[in-house]
Amino acid sequence: MKLRHILEAQQFTLPIIRELFDRTRGMEHIVARGGSLDYQKRIMASLFYVPSMRTRFSFESAMHRLGGKVMSTEHARAFSSEIEAEDVEDSIRVLSGYADVIVIRHPEEGGACRAAEASSVPVINAGDGQGGQHPTQALLDLYTIYRERPLDGLSIAFIGELDRGRTVRSLAYLLAKFDRVKLVFVSPAELQMRPDILEYLDRHNVQYDITTDMDSVLAKADVIYQTRIHPERLPNRAGGLYTIDSSVLPKLKPDAMILHPLPRTSELAKCVDADSRARYFLEAQNGLYVRMALLTMLLD
Ligand code: CP
Repeated sequence: MKLRHILEAQQFTLPIIRELFDRTRGMEHIVARGGSLDYQKRIMASLFYVPSMRTRFSFESAMHRLGGKVMSTEHARAFSSEIEAEDVEDSIRVLSGYADVIVIRHPEEGGACRAAEASSVPVINAGDGQGGQHPTQALLDLYTIYRERPLDGLSIAFIGELDRGRTVRSLAYLLAKFDRVKLVFVSPAELQMRPDILEYLDRHNVQYDITTDMDSVLAKADVIYQTRIHPERLPNRAGGLYTIDSSVLPKLKPDAMILHPLPRTSELAKCVDADSRARYFLEAQNGLYVRMALLTMLLD
């Protein structure tokens, strides 16, 4: 199944997700065998206007593991020595003559779509704006859950700064494609999930709740999806609000999964790492396999 670009989670139909996850399983085996040389004539450009550790390195590792080559910058704002911030369309028009696929993280919502419109090669949205989407993160989150339990009937609690949560927004779109899922959004009122997602869930008859009370959801959720609250968004209140720590662990289902897109601050205590339900480092590892599979779907 051919994909042109990867810009938003809504574009992933169930058959595409199925194919992606089949390919991803295959990538786990390919990496275990030391990688592939199948894409040695292909070049990936990673164009980051905003810093990234996991997304950038996992995409670059993915291309290397496939045998391909990588051109990379995390300083795309200073892409030209003459002009401090070259127009993204101009940069993409030029870069698409040099690379076979472009991975972009852009500071503006819609930045990746603008790049795709200007590009003659596939573009991957590696996170746009402060409340756009991060579809490849959501796909690796979904894959991490799928490896352990059915997605139909899943109950998931999203906790933290949800209005600007690119990964949460993308994952909500993806989960809406499955049957009988239940989403609970746990956040202070001023950081709650934005109406566009809630309206989408309403249109697709997806069950969801909104609450400020984390304790009320802990015992019911199959997946706890914790996210960071930027302290400047809640002056004097962010610290300690919705922390997952040793006092919370006994309240979770014995077989719950704890996810976090990372990086974390105090909202996810380090002592949780030793809990058998912690999955966030596995999530990051799965990012390699999912991104390898996505690259092959764009390049084949
Ligand atoms: N999860 C995630 O997107 O992390 P980075 O910002 O390090 O890419």
